[in-house]
Amino acid sequence: MLKINENFIKLPQSYLFVDIARKVQQFAEAHPEKTIIKMGIGDVTKPLPKAVVEAMKKAADEMGQAETFRGYGPENGYAFLREAIAENDYRKHGIDIAPDEIFVSDGAKSDTGSIGDIFAVDNVVAVCDPVYPVYIDTNVMAGRGGEYNDQTGWSKIVYMPCTEETNFLPEIPKEPVDVIYLCFPNNPSGVGITREALQQWVDYANEHQAVILYDAAYEAFITEDLPHSIYEIEGAHTCAIEFRSFSKTAGFTGTRCAFTVIPKALQFQGVSLNALWNRRQSTKMNGVSYVVQRGAEAVYSPEGQKEIQENIAYYLNNAKIIREGLTAAGFTAYGGVNSPYVWLKTPDGMTSWEFFDLLLEKTGIVGTPGSGFGLNGEGFFRLTAFNTLENTKAAIQRITDYFRK
Ligand code: MLT
Repeated sequence: MLKINENFIKLPQSYLFVDIARKVQQFAEAHPEKTIIKMGIGDVTKPLPKAVVEAMKKAADEMGQAETFRGYGPENGYAFLREAIAENDYRKHGIDIAPDEIFVSDGAKSDTGSIGDIFAVDNVVAVCDPVYPVYIDTNVMAGRGGEYNDQTGWSKIVYMPCTEETNFLPEIPKEPVDVIYLCFPNNPSGVGITREALQQWVDYANEHQAVILYDAAYEAFITEDLPHSIYEIEGAHTCAIEFRSFSKTAGFTGTRCAFTVIPKALQFQGVSLNALWNRRQSTKMNGVSYVVQRGAEAVYSPEGQKEIQENIAYYLNNAKIIREGLTAAGFTAYGGVNSPYVWLKTPDGMTSWEFFDLLLEKTGIVGTPGSGFGLNGEGFFRLTAFNTLENTKAAIQRITDYFRK
């Protein structure tokens, strides 16, 4: 008789953003007269840059001609894209990363969710709390979660509290850990990490033979003097894997393209993680479509760069409007300076979900309840800057009108 993977039964019934979408759908059906402004899931609103669209059209035409048609591509990405990434995101900034240390994929969500395949089930996983739920849920699926308790979370997972007291930065765990997920600029709190602070993690990982899984999906939003890549930090090539994405940087949330960097120097028990991931990827996927990879390549062209910088500046301006507007309305708000996310404290001690319901009911604004990101997210709420300028301004006006004392 078939036996299912019982780890799935232990998980919450559905993924956080699926839950929210369902609630919003119900509200919209019950109140067709209300205009809803979505600032929940971090989904972009600006269209793809023209340079990207042109490159994809050209690539689509190539696919329609016998002479230039391509079938299966290389599993880990075409050389043209891996070279463009190595050159523009790393070498240009003095970071030594080679094209064959780059694995092109359909998303940082897939990669951060699948990377655990190459680690033993009995490794101890450490995550920030609050945290992007994918890191936890996928480890629970793999059997690294243990049992869930409402008060303390998953028994086998080590939580690193990121609270107002710690400036939303994790502290090095006291117990031994093997796999450490870090995300900076952070989702959900929006805070960045300094080189000095990141150096401590790299030193810890090298000393304890742990691996850091560094999610840098939001690096393009950095405005201050903070590291864009963990490989700017001395020693990171022997302890860290980095995840990056074109989703938020270049509007690829629906187009799908990202990449993971695994330096060849990253070896455990004499085995190269680069080789293991290569084995995993070439067995489980056939790469990203040629058309999409040509689009991603065009992100690095001068026109592509100009357009994405304009879009990022547009979203950062929204973030500023949200942060300053909330502060003026009497809220305590964090993030939004090096990040498209603003992390606010719920008023009057409301729970995150109480605030979610109130905000939706009274203002028609959708955000993400902090408790959906972990126990230490309770009492907080996330708003994204990815909506349009008009909607962002309207949302802040609605919040101000309702909450200003
Ligand atoms: C978020 O809202 O946290 C992100 O959009 C989720 C994601 O990138 O998968």
